[in-house]
Amino acid sequence: MTIQLDEIYQLSYLARDLEPNQYSPNSIDKTKYIVNVNNLLPFDDIISKFVSNNFVILKLDSDEYFKNNILSELSKIFGKMIEQTPAKDSIVYNIESSRSNKTSTKNNTYQPLHSDGNFKPNPPKIIALQCLQHSELGGYTKLVYARKIYNFVKDTSPSELENLFDINGIKFYRKDRNSKKLKIIEYNKPIFYRLENNRFGISFNPMMSRIESTKEIEDIYREISKFASEPKNQLTFQLRKDEILIVDNFSLLHARTEFPEDGGRLLRRAWYDGESNYDLNLGFLP
Ligand SMILES: [Fe+2]
Repeated sequence: MTIQLDEIYQLSYLARDLEPNQYSPNSIDKTKYIVNVNNLLPFDDIISKFVSNNFVILKLDSDEYFKNNILSELSKIFGKMIEQTPAKDSIVYNIESSRSNKTSTKNNTYQPLHSDGNFKPNPPKIIALQCLQHSELGGYTKLVYARKIYNFVKDTSPSELENLFDINGIKFYRKDRNSKKLKIIEYNKPIFYRLENNRFGISFNPMMSRIESTKEIEDIYREISKFASEPKNQLTFQLRKDEILIVDNFSLLHARTEFPEDGGRLLRRAWYDGESNYDLNLGFLP
């Protein structure tokens, strides 16, 4: 059994089209998650908001030097910055749009819910997205709590739940973006991880060339995609210029809605390993 990429895209598009308006207004009061930052990092505020919500939004009122260096400064809280793919050898990665670019992070089409770096042996625990310029229309961020997804699977397919922790449960096929020739990378990944302190983490990315597993797990993959695409399960807001979204990649999936190609949207992204001196409460309790 296999799931083809197109099929997952169709599912998430279908769910997206159920929304009354693709450019729907914010579904949450974003200000509840915001920490104001000048030229000094307010460590306690950032950590406490991050720990209670699994994400935080920094609103910068800072000079250019501070803005240009804040992603590396944040490693004092969120751990070492790690190399990103597809931008090989890069710890800060620019996300700008171009319809012709097939890399989903680099074009302006809808990007379905996923966690970052799912294909890496050690996916980043934390992602930061610094908005240098937002698009007036669209480009909304969507977040879905992994705990909700876990409970959904527990309710609908309890007998399969344990199989989703199996490292050999799902085989992924992914195009190697660093190779000039068409090269397919294969790797195995579970959907859920067991972390420290009885906490769990998620790893989910439907944007692969192909996914192979048992019929039961493939059905669950489809159902998770559909469930996560339902607006009522999502927190939606627009990340605006001079804001930085910091997300626990093991306890939230993220997505982005379509936006006009000439909208000028530009983000800078960093990945952190989460090895921190602070207790960041990563992952979720079932
Ligand atoms: Fe992402």
